[in-house]
Amino acid sequence: MFRFLRDHGVIERNLILMGVLTLITVSIGGLVQIVPLFTIETTIERVEGIRPYTPLELAGRDIYVREGCYTCHSQMVRPFRDEAERYGHYSLAAESMYDHPFQWGSKRSGPDLARLGGKYSDDWHAAHLRSPRSVVPESIMPPYAFLDRPLDVEAVQAKLRAMKALGVPYTDEMIANARADLEAQATPDADAAAFGGRYGKARQAAFDGNGKVVTEMDALVAYLQMLGTLVQFRDVTPEQVRQQ
Ligand code: HEC
Repeated sequence: MFRFLRDHGVIERNLILMGVLTLITVSIGGLVQIVPLFTIETTIERVEGIRPYTPLELAGRDIYVREGCYTCHSQMVRPFRDEAERYGHYSLAAESMYDHPFQWGSKRSGPDLARLGGKYSDDWHAAHLRSPRSVVPESIMPPYAFLDRPLDVEAVQAKLRAMKALGVPYTDEMIANARADLEAQATPDADAAAFGGRYGKARQAAFDGNGKVVTEMDALVAYLQMLGTLVQFRDVTPEQVRQQ
């Protein structure tokens, strides 16, 4: 009966053998945990309201990544009471399912931004980004006034195509109309029918306060104002949330 324990001594006395066997054991455990996640479609519970980002929001998201906003801001409300009281409902996996790469972040020099949308006006955001200390005197956030330059709208179709290659369900129609949709969202009096048909309740506005030129500021503010607003939490059942 104790033969097994005696034989085990062989392994314990041989460092290399023990190292190799440990590696094999840990790898099996790792595979069991990691492989199912590759079938991400079935891993993440679908939640009503989650849609691919509009072309303008997607462009804004790229600016967010480019400027390294994630080095100071997280986008994940953790399921703890203090977090939920400060920021709102904790984040669901589905809320970042179209994020490539995800923006959960691990550093909070500034507040979490996962539930930011609708907290401030567009004007507040534009003023804050241009000069954070003009609205929050004690802020240590750097200014981003240069974002008032025109946005590279040529690139947007390729951005959608790249996201589609990564599994975001953009249709051919969305890709073909990417530039028109981008301009329609940044122009408050543009025809809303086609854009609204593709992106539901996405808001149209002159996000930077100037409806004439589509700027990087427009894109970033459109993105920030969407964060955390896609899921209406009173419509999500406890079952859906538990399975996250
Ligand atoms: C060096 C760290 C740092 C960087 C980089 C940074 N921020 Fe901030 N951010 C802060 C701090 C600190 C605050 C809190 C003070 C304030 O409101 O300005 C803040 C506040 C904010 C707020 C207000 C959040 C709220 O709920 O009140 C927004 C929105 C924001 N940042 C967006 C951005 C964006 C977008 C970028 C990238 C373009 C960015 N930040 C880059 C540090 C940073």
